[in-house]
Amino acid sequence: MKTASAPSTTNLVRLDVQRELDRPESRADPYSAYARLRRLGPVLRWRSGFSDTYVITRHQDVVSLLRDPRIANDRRSVSGRGGAPAGRWWMPAIMKLLINSMVMKDPPDHRRLRTLVQKAFTPARVDDLGDRVEQITADLLDAAATKPVIDLVADLALPLPLTVISEMLGVPEPQRVEFRALLARVLDPNSAKLSGFIRNYPHMLRLNRFLRRLVRLRRQQPGDDLVTALVQAEEDGDRLGEDELISMVFLLLFAGHETTVNLIGNGVLALLQHPDQLQLLRARPDLIDTAIDEMLRFTNPVGTVSPRFVREELDIADVRIPRGSTLTLLLASANLDDAAFPDAHRFDITRTPNRHVGFGLGPHYCLGAPLARIEARAAIPALLQRFPDLRLAIPPESVRWRSNMGLRGIESLPLRTSA
Ligand code: HEM
Repeated sequence: MKTASAPSTTNLVRLDVQRELDRPESRADPYSAYARLRRLGPVLRWRSGFSDTYVITRHQDVVSLLRDPRIANDRRSVSGRGGAPAGRWWMPAIMKLLINSMVMKDPPDHRRLRTLVQKAFTPARVDDLGDRVEQITADLLDAAATKPVIDLVADLALPLPLTVISEMLGVPEPQRVEFRALLARVLDPNSAKLSGFIRNYPHMLRLNRFLRRLVRLRRQQPGDDLVTALVQAEEDGDRLGEDELISMVFLLLFAGHETTVNLIGNGVLALLQHPDQLQLLRARPDLIDTAIDEMLRFTNPVGTVSPRFVREELDIADVRIPRGSTLTLLLASANLDDAAFPDAHRFDITRTPNRHVGFGLGPHYCLGAPLARIEARAAIPALLQRFPDLRLAIPPESVRWRSNMGLRGIESLPLRTSA
């Protein structure tokens, strides 16, 4: 990507990317909206809140930046002050737990936390869940099957990941109903972001207290669950402190919920809008794995990663980006880039290879990818098998999207289950 000439940022197109992507026509057709952004340039400028950011639109640049050690997740790493706990004296303790999560950290802190959590969140632990995830799906579909019109989001996509993570964490049976109700409030994807946070604050405090009691319980009575594994995870005599452990559980809950809801919701919608692909998957259920990758690529449950910060001046596509700059990496735009995916605007459940960045890439690659896959692999085929005549109960243009930029998902999806 380096060039010999002196690259310049002066002639970059400036626009409000968020506004552009949240326009009704962009929500209805993000494919054309992202294509427009890529045509405007590989690097755009956007004033987002108080910060000026460089927006990266092409697949090749997003991929290389996600792996580039000159890019930081913690703004303070640019000035060499990364590492100390983030937060200001006036911030509530919960907010400090959230902003000190591993996704906001750089090496060596990030490596240390990731190694410890990986000891607990192993692919084997996730694989063992397969049968249980299928059972939970079957129970949810049994309950939904009594209605002529189901809401895919409320009846399946939302409760499935919620139930799975509650069981994984090792919440004792008598408290699971209370815990799930608490999670449903705290993680409600349909509550507006800022006002939702304020309204939910008392529930966050309750969740914090609940989790701390659970950690204490699992220290005294270890079980075969994720909290016990996090409590016991050890590397060279190092362990997670209690705040680190709670911050990690919060991260797993927040990073893993709405994202999975969006994958199941958006994925089923894409199938219903592409009847040839739906028919193909019904005929060839063995295509489910490539279908899930295509759903990640084409429907973009996560459209953008958290902001990145430039530690050392670098060149991207003939543009010199100064040290200290903020970058917005548009995963969704990368995933729809014709230069990386032949016929990128076609939804093709047999697509191979499929080098999408739906789970990110590099050191922060999604830790929960195997769990998300297991849940989608259980939910989508079971839904199709249970309802051979499944179809949209509303016109496609009435589908309401929650957001189009960060997490991209639908509010609800009414489906008719019989002919
Ligand atoms: C379809 C579902 C999912 C999608 C599309 C998704 C996507 C992503 C993406 C794009 C990142 C990278 C963030 C970055 O680089 O800033 C990420 C990180 C992460 N995800 Fe997921 N995710 C999903 C499900 C899950 C689940 C189920 C869990 C756990 C229960 C999870 C836990 C995490 C964690 C802990 C990280 C941070 C990793 C790190 O900083 O090292 N995700 N995810």
